[in-house]
Amino acid sequence: MFSTKRLRFREVRTEDVQEIMKNWNNYNIRRNLGQVLFPTSKEQEEEWVKETWSDAKKGSAFTFAIEIKKTKELIGTISLFKINKVSRHAELGIAIYSSKHHGKGYGTEAMKFILQYGFQVLNLETIHLGVCEFNKPARHVYEKVGFKKQGRKRNFVFREGKSYDLLLYDITKKEWSELNQEVISEF
Ligand SMILES: CC(C)(COP(=O)(O)OP(=O)(O)OC[C@H]1O[C@@H](n2cnc3c(N)ncnc32)[C@H](O)[C@@H]1OP(=O)(O)O)[C@@H](O)C(=O)NCCC(=O)NCCS
Repeated sequence: MFSTKRLRFREVRTEDVQEIMKNWNNYNIRRNLGQVLFPTSKEQEEEWVKETWSDAKKGSAFTFAIEIKKTKELIGTISLFKINKVSRHAELGIAIYSSKHHGKGYGTEAMKFILQYGFQVLNLETIHLGVCEFNKPARHVYEKVGFKKQGRKRNFVFREGKSYDLLLYDITKKEWSELNQEVISEF
């Protein structure tokens, strides 16, 4: 439905679950996300896919499957959720599932897409996110696309016996538009 140079962004489908399950129970990916650290089943993931459809219908969250255009390979998902239609803000979440796809610029391209979608399609005013302090690649990508660190929730994330801060970042529509980083090649 939406394309950038190398990626396509479409709805998540139940048949994606098979691909998602290949990496979803990988601890090293999941420890970065604000999730309960317990393996999930195929059935739970199918339920989650259906939830993304009903959230989109309500306008409370929009989750895209990230696909490589050339190969049609599903590599992750990216979402705007907790959408507030009065104050026009939303929270952002991203996961590129397999480490074999990390470090190839896909995360940056997907982030630029979702910012353009949030500001130009949903007419949001602010987009915000939380990231664990130890997640250096994610922090680097967020700062690269224009997010600014606004605060922290101290000792908010407990991992492997230790507490870490959750860093809070945001970006306004004005800040984003000044960066001239529109990437959608096809609406
Ligand atoms: C965070 C994530 C989305 C990034 O996606 P990606 O496709 O690997 O990102 P990119 O390839 O576009 O960029 C990665 C950047 O991190 C940098 N990086 C990698 N390791 C790093 C480190 N230890 N410290 C600082 N920067 C680092 C890379 O150099 C690259 O930056 P550059 O392009 O300026 O050189 C992906 O790693 C991911 O999904 N991780 C698991 C889930 C997750 O952490 N989600 C975010 C939760 S808040």
